[in-house]
Amino acid sequence: MSRKIIVAGNWKMNKNAAEGRALVEALKNGIAGLEAAEIVVCPPFTTIGSVVEAAEGSPIGVGAQNIHWEANGAFTGEISADMLKTSGVQYVIIGHSERRQYFGETDETVNKRLVAALAAGFTPIVCVGELLEEREGGKTEAVLAQQIRVGFAGISAEDAAKIVVAYEPVWAIGTGKTATPDMAQQAHAFIRGELRALFGNVADDMRIQYGGSMKASNARELVAQPDIDGGLIGGAALKADDFIALIREALAL
Ligand code: PGA
Repeated sequence: MSRKIIVAGNWKMNKNAAEGRALVEALKNGIAGLEAAEIVVCPPFTTIGSVVEAAEGSPIGVGAQNIHWEANGAFTGEISADMLKTSGVQYVIIGHSERRQYFGETDETVNKRLVAALAAGFTPIVCVGELLEEREGGKTEAVLAQQIRVGFAGISAEDAAKIVVAYEPVWAIGTGKTATPDMAQQAHAFIRGELRALFGNVADDMRIQYGGSMKASNARELVAQPDIDGGLIGGAALKADDFIALIREALAL
């Protein structure tokens, strides 16, 4: 069992094309010696083109923040696998809590997007995580189990091996509140157990990122946990120095 650490920056609705290009140029200069981590940036759709160009020839992978399940048609505001593929995208974030909270994403639509992403050969980053009231109500495991069982329905073990899961407790996203390493490890171990129930031993090869106010100062102790295989980073991915410092800490350098 060896799982390569994966650190992905989720830029959310930040960075126009010129800003995205500048950030990637700065990252390229800073990541020498950090090849032990898989490094990904996920810009907004309109910034993808310039980021792909800027990242060319570097180990930085590029991801999108959403994907639609249909190949084309009357789906205003959505984007297809082919559009992403031909733009040079390799990764796709699916089911981020902001999509669930503000844009009506459900476990069922997560599943449809996941099926489409796998069929197109992307590495999907599937987000799961509980709300504060769910944690306080002792429902964290039930919520995670439901998100995984429905979100991953019908996926083969062979395809599952390609999926990255991001555990993002919603109360920790953008709030400065991080789950303690113990708390996060507990949730990650539970998630891996659910994945094992669905996919058998493949679960041991699947990477599970932590997300939610991860930064350089807490990345090391989080990624040191046995079931935490990297991070999905919002705020701390928007400045090259912050992101590079975080990756170094995640690698315990
Ligand atoms: P944050 O966001 O690092 O700003 O908390 C993480 C995420 O939403 O992926």
